[in-house]
Amino acid sequence: MLPYFPFGQQFNDKMGTLSLSENEPLVELDEHYITETTLKKQLLAVLPAYYYQSLPGFELAQWEVLEAILTNLSQSDPSRFSLRKEGSRWHWANNRLHEQTSFTFGDAGSLAMEPLNWMGRQVQEDLLLLAGPEASLVAGQLCFGNGWCLDEKIGLPFWQIHAPITPIVEPMIRAAQKLMERLPAGRPVWRLNWSVKVTDQLDMTSRHTPALEKLLTELAPGLTRDTIGENLYVRIERQTLTRLPRSGAILFGIHTYQNRLSDEISERPDAAERLANVFKTTPQAMLDYKGLTPFMPALLTYLARYKS
Ligand code: HEM
Repeated sequence: MLPYFPFGQQFNDKMGTLSLSENEPLVELDEHYITETTLKKQLLAVLPAYYYQSLPGFELAQWEVLEAILTNLSQSDPSRFSLRKEGSRWHWANNRLHEQTSFTFGDAGSLAMEPLNWMGRQVQEDLLLLAGPEASLVAGQLCFGNGWCLDEKIGLPFWQIHAPITPIVEPMIRAAQKLMERLPAGRPVWRLNWSVKVTDQLDMTSRHTPALEKLLTELAPGLTRDTIGENLYVRIERQTLTRLPRSGAILFGIHTYQNRLSDEISERPDAAERLANVFKTTPQAMLDYKGLTPFMPALLTYLARYKS
């Protein structure tokens, strides 16, 4: 079952941010931890400059990402993660990956790679850094992006990053822009995003878009109310936004979760009804943007079967 299920009475056009309280983790670990961190390392080995990029001048922010995440992990799961500090010399032990790393905080030469690139390999989240008055994307490790990639967005301000989205959600993006400008340090927030896919491939960065569109075109006409549950996946992103205290940059973390539709429906009694409520009220332009239009009639027929 998905750990989050952002489907209620209707399509929600609000940004849906909630404050992340102190006892809620900044990054989450689940049973896919080893598989997903291994997959990240494979992708980064094959195409390092596609999955990781950084602009110069944001080194402090990168170190602050380490500070935030390593502290959070070692506090929330001390049996698996430990952080020991001897002045600026830090010793990190990751007992899940059986890795130990020592480095000097702030000293680029003390890690084998840039801090953000190193950090991203220890967590399931994609990690992005935004900075400056317009919250521009200045660095990121993005392995599991849903239909986008760093090549397309690096250096762009928040507003322009969202330019391809339908104008229907323009008020939401304007509100989010304000949030990016005003988010205080020490008061992180989180939100959820959802989509429905014909595969559970985690890496949906833009280089896969042509193949994924082809797959959708091939599969969609054959999906019936009897087969659709087995063939679709609900894909959820848990997104966190954290203002870093010294640099003033924002860390954007994205944890992607997915589950086969038929499994989610058998595991969560009201899932079908909630999904139907949202899909029926999602504006057509948004269904098109999210790639749901080709299978929506079959999907609604399938969900209607489970009506209580
Ligand atoms: C409160 C903050 C945010 C809100 C409300 C928000 C909202 C949205 C919405 C509604 C979409 C359309 C996709 C969908 O609903 O499935 C979207 C897409 C996207 N968002 Fe955000 N977002 C936020 C933060 C960010 C941040 C910080 C980044 C930084 C990289 C980002 C990058 C993107 C990208 C790359 C897309 C895909 C755009 C495309 O189609 O090219 N978002 N966002």
